[in-house]
Amino acid sequence: MGKIALTGDRPTGKLHLGHYVGSLNNRLNLQNDKSFDEIYIMLADGQGLTDNFDNPQKIRNNIIEVALDYLSIGLDPNRVTICIQSALPALTELTFYYMNVVTVPRLERNPTVKAEMVLRGFNEGDEGLPVGFFTYPISQAADITGFDANVVPVGEDQKPMLEQCREIVHKFNSIYGETLVMPEIMLPKNEKATRLKGLDGMEKMSKSLNNCIYLSEPAGSLKTKVMSMYTDPNHIDINDPGNVEGNAVFNFLDVFCEEHHFNDYLKDYKNLDEMKEHYRKGGLGDVKCKKFLLSILEEMISKFRVSREKWKNNLSDVYDILDAGTKKAISKTDATYARVKKAMCMDYFSNKNSIIEEWKGLLNK
Ligand code: TRP
Repeated sequence: MGKIALTGDRPTGKLHLGHYVGSLNNRLNLQNDKSFDEIYIMLADGQGLTDNFDNPQKIRNNIIEVALDYLSIGLDPNRVTICIQSALPALTELTFYYMNVVTVPRLERNPTVKAEMVLRGFNEGDEGLPVGFFTYPISQAADITGFDANVVPVGEDQKPMLEQCREIVHKFNSIYGETLVMPEIMLPKNEKATRLKGLDGMEKMSKSLNNCIYLSEPAGSLKTKVMSMYTDPNHIDINDPGNVEGNAVFNFLDVFCEEHHFNDYLKDYKNLDEMKEHYRKGGLGDVKCKKFLLSILEEMISKFRVSREKWKNNLSDVYDILDAGTKKAISKTDATYARVKKAMCMDYFSNKNSIIEEWKGLLNK
């Protein structure tokens, strides 16, 4: 079997630079990697609904936003298949059967579920934990195995999901015979670049923390955001020594700055090490650092903006891309589901004559 990659996003908001660094960038490399036979990118609206069940319109609205995010950064529909989860019935059906091979304590131990429960307040109050949310790692295992994916390019935070999926595959195959493909996680290569801090210096860029730069960020607000970024609170006077650790501006520079940027925008230094050295010693002001970062980000995001504008003026093409991608995904996942049903002895209508023979043998015993 060939190399098949599957990954996805919950369409709960526009994608931001944290997504870009943590996974989208990796997908761009993937689509240029000729060794992959199939690459699927899924808009996981069903999963998005597990903690937004009372706000379906939000999910619906973000389908087009995220699709435009994908296209504007250069994901190419000729090389990757973009599809919508809720339109793939096989995935829900697989989930139903996988539930038999997962225990409640195992789900309770899933670190991502644990953390998200706290984040969403599902661990307290009267309302309790929605079953749909609790079991979403099982449905994510259905997403992955439904496509026969052997490679899953995701960010660090999805590790527990992959582990859970691999356990399901292992258990399923050991009961029903080799049926499901064992997936491998594919983390972003550049380790320091896997996590982008928030504008406020918080550990993670996240919509709920309101500390994001969006892929569709307009030039005006990009400038405002960069100029108000968290740096080193003790670096008050230019001549004070400054800290680059914990400093959001330098975290961003670590991720986005390349050597040619110094030649393009800041000739005072040859490279980032030199710049950091000066900052540490004192004598380099935050405004200068921020302006440099702004030039780098504006160069990148302005390209996204131009491309997004183009797609926005061709929404009929965007519709057709999603429609065709989803159709392809339906036949892919239906084929897996047929295989699974056979393995589980539920292929009752696959061949009338052979089923009748089987019944006869059984009843005449
Ligand atoms: N859980 C992923 C996220 O929140 C989204 C997702 C859903 C996904 N299904 C997937 C990722 C399958 C990889 C593979 O980002």
